[in-house]
Amino acid sequence: MDIDACFVSDNVSDQPESLIHPLAIGSLVVPNNLALAPMAGTSDTVYRAICREMGAGLVVTELVSARGICYDPALKRSWRYLEIMPEAERPVAIQLFGADPDDFYRAIQLIHQHPILRQCDLIDLNMGCPVPKVVRGGEGSALMKDPPLAGRIIEASVRALAEVAAAGADTGPFSGSGSAAAIKPLTVKFRKGWDDQSVNAPAFARLCQEAGAAAVTIHARTRDQFYSGKADWSIITAVKQAVTIPVYGNGDIINATSARQMLQETGVDGLMIGRAAQGNPWIFQEITAELANLPKNGPRPFFGKPTPQARAAMVLRHLRGLAVRVGERTAVAEMRAQLAYYLRGTPQAAQWKNIAMRAKTVVEVEAFLDEWLKDMQRLAVN
Ligand SMILES: Cc1cc2nc3c(=O)[nH]c(=O)nc-3n(C[C@H](O)[C@H](O)[C@H](O)COP(=O)(O)O)c2cc1C
Repeated sequence: MDIDACFVSDNVSDQPESLIHPLAIGSLVVPNNLALAPMAGTSDTVYRAICREMGAGLVVTELVSARGICYDPALKRSWRYLEIMPEAERPVAIQLFGADPDDFYRAIQLIHQHPILRQCDLIDLNMGCPVPKVVRGGEGSALMKDPPLAGRIIEASVRALAEVAAAGADTGPFSGSGSAAAIKPLTVKFRKGWDDQSVNAPAFARLCQEAGAAAVTIHARTRDQFYSGKADWSIITAVKQAVTIPVYGNGDIINATSARQMLQETGVDGLMIGRAAQGNPWIFQEITAELANLPKNGPRPFFGKPTPQARAAMVLRHLRGLAVRVGERTAVAEMRAQLAYYLRGTPQAAQWKNIAMRAKTVVEVEAFLDEWLKDMQRLAVN
């Protein structure tokens, strides 16, 4: 399968019975209700553009420190994480984390003084990160233990977005009202709660809505669970019932079957996909092919398991795109981890991954892929 044959048109059905459909988030209409989850170390700008082509209707940067942006007003150090390619990945959200409302206010102002970053379509607030060094500072999921502070952060962020829109520093929405003065939506991503004794996601979602959020994403695990254990989809149902703004459900969507199940079981508006999309941008194509009512005469995504050739071509596209942006050395180092995901499910993936870890240059990755492809051919994998 060649990569070009995989692109998924944004032209999904807007028929209400289609499980995949455009979604209005405040002043923005995203082309469909599938989103790539923010993932530090994975959801870089090149990968986000690939996922958009494969059918994700919304992509999100990894978390970026609001305070870090304030200390770096020229956005030099944060650029690596903040960079977006507006022409290739919109609609795109920039995700911020922090614990001080003033930091968020200022960071949003600074983002909107930048000619490229101001073209983002949404600002997303991270209130779900479980990492100790983040929660120690009262950031990420620690904010679920301090709803009044979370509310003040959302209000400060909404105020900043209203001011940048009024000052014309906004670029207008990706679609929707078409008015440049429309206020860019703010969204919040959070968890089921801090731990099993303090599950508060439905009340927290209501607080987000009242403070001005245009949509929320609920990752159906507590902070204590980190990423292990089964996601509790019943909390997604409860959050959906608690608010009127759109809700994205997140946690354990691994294919079209689980995507359908989450939509039908929880009544949620959109799906956000994390780990199952690592090295697997085809998941958006798979879900669209299975769940969308595509126009009968329009282009239809073909879905089958990606061939070794398609995987290798995607690795090289991702790698070369990164190399242009961050330099060959960093790109290869980052792609070594991603390569393991791209090889997932193929024969002897663990051994091949160990070999891939030795690559230091793009040429070495190319040589590795040639050897790998020969082995897949020998094993008649297709
Ligand atoms: C490697 C990795 C990095 C992540 N980074 C972020 C992040 O920067 N911001 C965020 O909100 N969530 C982050 N997450 C959480 C995911 O967005 C998502 O909520 C979680 O993986 C559950 O979804 P899944 O079961 O589909 O993987 C990260 C997850 C992983 C595995």
